[in-house]
Amino acid sequence: MIVDKMQVQAEKEIVLNIAEEAVIESEDRAKSEVSEEEDVHFHDVKLLLQEGVHEDDVKRLKNAGINTVKGVLMTIRKNILALGIDETKLSHIYEVCAKIDMNNIFITAAEVAELRNKIFKLSTGSKRLDQLLGGGIEAMSITEVFGEFGSGKSQLAHTLCVTTQMPGPNSYLGGKVIFVDTEHTFRPDRIRMIADRFNLNQATVLDNILYARAYNSEHQWELLNHIGEKLHEDPGLYKLLIIDSIMALFRVDFSGLGEITDRQKKLGQMMSRLQKMSEEFNIAVFITNQISSDIRINDMDRATYKPIGGNILAHASTNRIFFQKGQGPLRKAMVFSSTDLEESEEEFIITAGGVDDAYS
Ligand code: GTP
Ligand code: MG
Repeated sequence: MIVDKMQVQAEKEIVLNIAEEAVIESEDRAKSEVSEEEDVHFHDVKLLLQEGVHEDDVKRLKNAGINTVKGVLMTIRKNILALGIDETKLSHIYEVCAKIDMNNIFITAAEVAELRNKIFKLSTGSKRLDQLLGGGIEAMSITEVFGEFGSGKSQLAHTLCVTTQMPGPNSYLGGKVIFVDTEHTFRPDRIRMIADRFNLNQATVLDNILYARAYNSEHQWELLNHIGEKLHEDPGLYKLLIIDSIMALFRVDFSGLGEITDRQKKLGQMMSRLQKMSEEFNIAVFITNQISSDIRINDMDRATYKPIGGNILAHASTNRIFFQKGQGPLRKAMVFSSTDLEESEEEFIITAGGVDDAYS
């Protein structure tokens, strides 16, 4: 009996070590992968110096969180002029950027298909939920989950913090996570429990999550600049950016009647920034959202549950998923709107180890 126990313990330790090595190894591989991906994603704006762009202008771009050539091409003229770069110099900058990025202007549809095949997908912890999402939370796009309190939005965010670090299909090697917490609901203890479920080393998993608490909507916007810098400093290392939740601070900061237009403008800028970052750095963006309080009682039709944030959020999120509470740990996920997912639903549960399948 004692021997059995010792053997089980020894086996458990071996599994833990393997899991830890897998995370570290995937980190190393992610680093070495970068050189291949560099061509597409990570041309530093410093390259502009070699093409005669003035150091001060490169600094201006960097200070505004524009760190890559792709980032310049994604930013409209008006916004770059606002940084104090004059018209003539800006035309030169665009020209140089287009030259550096030349190979990426036109590609064939076959190449688009090949690129889409390479887009990694992160597991939610539930195979059925992954299926609903067409394989998982997709890179280079924004996935929004909305639902009432306790429906599992933050629990999924916590689960993703761990699953992102594990290798997956399509040669995905695992990577780090950035978690922006606007509601003060991030719990390292939950991460530990979820790491246990996947036999991963708790400390390593926690080390791979970069956490930032946002205190108001302006701070939330400011954080995006810092995140942009981080993603640029460690290219290819981060794979997921979580914002839990996207609207909470906007709701508080723009609660007045006449403030809605201003709120929507700022929200639109934030969503556009997130979409660009997801493409520029090849990461998945996962946001949570609340539902409006004007739900009609006794009417369980999904159309009566509306995510907040209006059209701006509706158009910015690639996939919008609605979470609904069921009996005990049971939850239902429904595709609310999506560019390429069919409108279907799946059940899942919340366990000590995070999001899981309700049944196999
Ligand atoms: P709001 O942020 O309030 O809008 O809700 P949310 O959708 O983010 O809810 P969240 O993801 O925090 O889900 C909370 C629910 O998860 C709880 O009501 C529990 O049912 C479940 N849960 C949280 N922690 C644990 C845990 O340690 N074990 C288990 N089994 N379930 C948990
Ligand atoms: Mg929450």
